[in-house]
Amino acid sequence: MRVRTRLVVFGAALPALALLLAVVAAGVVFRLSLLRALDRALLAQAAVESVSPFDGPQNAPHLHLGHSPLVDDVRSFAPREALYRATGELVAHFPENGRIPDPPAPGEGEGGPQLSTRTASDGRPVRALVVVVRAPWGEPYVLKLEGSLGELDATMRLYWQATLGLVALVSAVLFALQWAQAGRMSRRIADMTGYLPKLRGGDLEWRLPADGTGDEIADLRVALAEAMERLLLARDAQERLIANAAHELRTPLGVMRTEMDLALRKERSADELRQALAGARGEVDRLSNLAARLLDLAALGKVTWQRSEGDLALVVRDAAEAYEAEAEGRGLAIELDLPAQAPAEIDVQMIRQALDNYLSNAIAHAPSGSAIRVGLEQEGEGYRVTVRDEGEGVPAEEAERVFEPFYRGSKAKKAAGAGLGLSITRAIARRHGGKAYLVPREGRGAAFALWIPRRVW
Ligand SMILES: Nc1ncnc2c1ncn2[C@@H]1O[C@H](COP(=O)(O)OP(=O)(O)OP(=O)(O)O)[C@@H](O)[C@H]1O
Ligand SMILES: [Mg+2]
Repeated sequence: MRVRTRLVVFGAALPALALLLAVVAAGVVFRLSLLRALDRALLAQAAVESVSPFDGPQNAPHLHLGHSPLVDDVRSFAPREALYRATGELVAHFPENGRIPDPPAPGEGEGGPQLSTRTASDGRPVRALVVVVRAPWGEPYVLKLEGSLGELDATMRLYWQATLGLVALVSAVLFALQWAQAGRMSRRIADMTGYLPKLRGGDLEWRLPADGTGDEIADLRVALAEAMERLLLARDAQERLIANAAHELRTPLGVMRTEMDLALRKERSADELRQALAGARGEVDRLSNLAARLLDLAALGKVTWQRSEGDLALVVRDAAEAYEAEAEGRGLAIELDLPAQAPAEIDVQMIRQALDNYLSNAIAHAPSGSAIRVGLEQEGEGYRVTVRDEGEGVPAEEAERVFEPFYRGSKAKKAAGAGLGLSITRAIARRHGGKAYLVPREGRGAAFALWIPRRVW
């Protein structure tokens, strides 16, 4: 069912139907209660008449309503009355002129007062009451009273006209409102539905127009727009990454080609050839480092991570120990300041990789004879790992740029790394709901921090 149909059905058709049913049910009850009131009036009148229809002169049976001094005042309640002998012979009736209630059928009224709705001889609907009244000498007479249903029917007509008119009006207003509302809503949804094929077609620049209603559809729009914005950023970042990667690959390949061309141009001595090969070997190292880094970066896109309850202190200790030998070789000392345990929900391998990037940078930048300090402490709902060295440090204005892929710093040496390490560390931190950042300079060297929440929600 379309949204428009659904809204009209549930917002207008069903309420209108319910209202109609309620009005009909109320009408039926109302008519019943009017009829009951008429029945009570007829029974009361019958009670009055049956007390003493034989107290006239020579016991002649008569009806009191005909003689009542109030008859004109009670006329609207005054029923037609007739008194018959059991044989069907009419004895008395009221009013004097006009239609007389029909004679009773044989045996009618014998089982007690009998009420019924019937059509009178003049075609009008009446409510009739038949009662058997016994004369003091034992003869049974049949008293018949008929109240007109005209007034009741007129009241009911008025009721139906008023209520059904109201139902029709309310239904029309409901339909109009729901139709307009549903139209607006389905247009807004259609706007978004129309947006998706554009996205599939690759038109990421197209923007959804703003929607100020503040309802759920507007929220959906905002969410869609935000998702688009992120997709756009991700696409740009990916394009930049590919362009940079291509550039980075071209440089060592170009250097290698030049070196080989030079080596091939004329007869070279074995030493010269060895030198050329060593140069090419250096470029191959760069290329394989770059390939490994790119693979690391691709691994970050893995859909599922092996996140489990682990010990961050243990991961930091393992990472530091793995770099111990390299640090020693460069005349560096790694100093650890770790708690016994630091339980956290982490992907151990990924965190290890993030720390490796910090440590390898620190070892590359620290001057021989200095110390690299690795600390782990609680901070807020997580832990902060800090890696400090006493190298040249990072200028404050490059604090963010060093985390960009392929950025190698303004003072980068030609043979430096791929420039991907820090961006990988930051991506890993973010996947853990944490952050990676450069601690503002406190003295000599650089301090990089990794904050990881204890639990990822
Ligand atoms: N401890 C440090 N001291 C000084 N500069 C640093 C330090 N760590 C990183 N940098 C600067 O940040 C840049 C980016 O570092 P990043 O680790 O991302 O790349 P890289 O080390 O050059 O290459 P790789 O991808 O092989 O790690 C470095 O080139 C360097 O200029
Ligand atoms: Mg690095």
